Amino acid sequence: MSKDYEERIQELRSKMTLEEKIGQLQQCGPSLVGAFDVSFDELLNMMFDGRITKEEFDRLMGTAEQDYHEEDLRAGKIGSYNGIGDSAMANRLQKIAVEETRLGIPLLFGYDVIHGFRTVTPIPLAESCAWEPALWEKTGRVAAQEATAAGVHLTFAPMVDVAKDARWGRVSEGAGEDVLLNSDYGVAKVMGFQGDDLTKEDAMAACLKHFAAYGAGEAGRDYNRVDMSMQRLWEEYMPPYQACVDAGARAVMPAFNDINGVPCTVNSWLLRDILREKWGFNGLVISDSNAIAECVDHGIAKDKRDASKQAILAGMDMDMSSNSYIECLKELVESGEVPESVLDGAVDDVLRIKFELGLFDNPYQTDGQRESQAMLKDEYRAIAREAAVKSMVLLKNENQVLPLKADAKIGLFGSLAADKGQMTGAWAIGANPEDCVSIVDACEVRRISYRYSENGSDLLKIAVDSDVLVAAIGEKKEESGEAASRADIMVRQEDLALVRDLLATGKPVIVVLFNGRPLAIPELAEHVPAILEAWHPGVEAGPAILDVLFGDVNPSGKLTTTFPAATGQCPMYYAHINTGRPGGKSKFTSKYLDAPVEPLYPFGYGLSYTTYAYGDLKAEKKEDSLHVTVSVSNTGERDGEEIVQCYVQDVAAKRVRPVRQLKGYKKVGLKAGETKQAEFTIPYEELSYYDWNMNKVPCEGILRVYAGGDSRAELMEEIIL
Ligand code: BGC
Repeated sequence: MSKDYEERIQELRSKMTLEEKIGQLQQCGPSLVGAFDVSFDELLNMMFDGRITKEEFDRLMGTAEQDYHEEDLRAGKIGSYNGIGDSAMANRLQKIAVEETRLGIPLLFGYDVIHGFRTVTPIPLAESCAWEPALWEKTGRVAAQEATAAGVHLTFAPMVDVAKDARWGRVSEGAGEDVLLNSDYGVAKVMGFQGDDLTKEDAMAACLKHFAAYGAGEAGRDYNRVDMSMQRLWEEYMPPYQACVDAGARAVMPAFNDINGVPCTVNSWLLRDILREKWGFNGLVISDSNAIAECVDHGIAKDKRDASKQAILAGMDMDMSSNSYIECLKELVESGEVPESVLDGAVDDVLRIKFELGLFDNPYQTDGQRESQAMLKDEYRAIAREAAVKSMVLLKNENQVLPLKADAKIGLFGSLAADKGQMTGAWAIGANPEDCVSIVDACEVRRISYRYSENGSDLLKIAVDSDVLVAAIGEKKEESGEAASRADIMVRQEDLALVRDLLATGKPVIVVLFNGRPLAIPELAEHVPAILEAWHPGVEAGPAILDVLFGDVNPSGKLTTTFPAATGQCPMYYAHINTGRPGGKSKFTSKYLDAPVEPLYPFGYGLSYTTYAYGDLKAEKKEDSLHVTVSVSNTGERDGEEIVQCYVQDVAAKRVRPVRQLKGYKKVGLKAGETKQAEFTIPYEELSYYDWNMNKVPCEGILRVYAGGDSRAELMEEIIL
């Protein structure tokens, strides 16, 4: 951080009035106004709860226009906008800020660029299954190039909430259940978004979220409480946030949830003691949408004024969408309840990120020409296809049903095979559904011999003429993501009925699953010969799926989230502890009467069109680290890439430790018949943990080291530390 900025910040802040300071902390989005006198959110509620009909809602929406609050902007009452992904509009508003406000402070434009802007890449959960930081960074760079061309300065990403409960809809937005993978994924995204120099026009500041432990909401219900031990919080949830801060993420979004009774929005331990004091963060802290006002509903603040006071004292710089600061801070500062120095600290953080992004020297970082040339370039589509292919996980392939022969005649079923708009998955607000290529589109382009039925009509006729039947089933995009928790993750009954009908024809059946979370698919796993987990793969969905089905690419993705066999097993994750009575056959063990102990598909699992064998596992003590080597051979007939995984178990520690913990992974390219060595260096520090009194203690005594192709790897070596 240049000292120069700090001086400029002080100088500028010294000229600001109280109102102008508070204005810098206000982020708003465009509001919809029309022939209705309630907010758009309330109108939506009215439709959902039946106070108005869908027809009435549509009629009112026909009268709606966007209100950009330009009068407030001119008066210096807005520091930032959310949700404007259009260079013309961004520049129009920026011009008002720069030319018509007293101090000419530029605006900061934030946007949810979660997995691509126009070139939508696979949902984060999918992309994490590639286990490839270089890919995560590359897709992050593409997202930044497009989004910044559309006027975006900051993205509300990456989400690095470790998520172990498949019922939670937002598992789709992160890198799954593992703490190491979430850290690596987050760091790669921060680097990709921000690039090597934030002042460059194609650099986009990263806002990591949701700090902290949003993924641990009770029962997988969105926004729900989080109550956990400090040991667990620090070992299993905090490392990815810290890794992103260390990697230079310039903004942080506190989570909606409370932790042990204190909502993150007003949690000074989290936002001051940990984030700023312990981790040395000096970037922008911006609330989640409306979260400051919602502290009243949480039951921690008596009104908006109280919530504003608690939030700013706790270290919340910017208010997203709740108008709490703009309405209450002036009085709070004037009455002395909030020291002006606290307000100044928040203002400094806002000005700092604006300086760092180069906005004072170059407020208009794009224009219509750059925007029109930046989107959906061929090279971006190629990267999206590569990411989609690498994200897919082959769950089952009996009798080598896959790959298909080039001249195979396909019977294709299910609306998801043709519905382009569903391919983006959750959180793709800059997307245009027309940009997506469906399986049906891709079959046309490749001149595949296929017949398609959306709902199974003509099933028998189509089946007779086909060599193989493909069912495209699973979830629509709104069935995962925010506010999309499910009490039942079982694949839907209509999909099962379709697959049963297909199986009854006696032809080989392939299921292509589209989903934003693990689905419980025990019946499919038992009866369907081949299952490809495609997730929501983005704009290049169709071509990527055909690449895998026809074997142009040998699948290599591995699950970063456990697939339970039944909803009642949730939360289910590989890094669990054993209990004193590990689940087993005898009665008094930790299990269910009506569901298996094991998952349907474990963490780390994924098949390929070739096979791999492991051997020669060695673990050796070095001065500061453990050195692990294992050999991996491609024992099949096709070239492939295998994701080699290394796990450890501390067998007798001061606190019970997980049965397995991922400590390293490597993607290894292997020609048919080839053998290579994979090496892992595990610093002892990464084996340490917290004792009962929250002291960090080293791992001592017996450590089991495992290596293999998934979290059930059996190859094991014991070492004494
Ligand atoms: C979500 C955030 C998102 C924000 C802004 C909220 O509802 O929780 O993840 O960044 O909206 O759109």
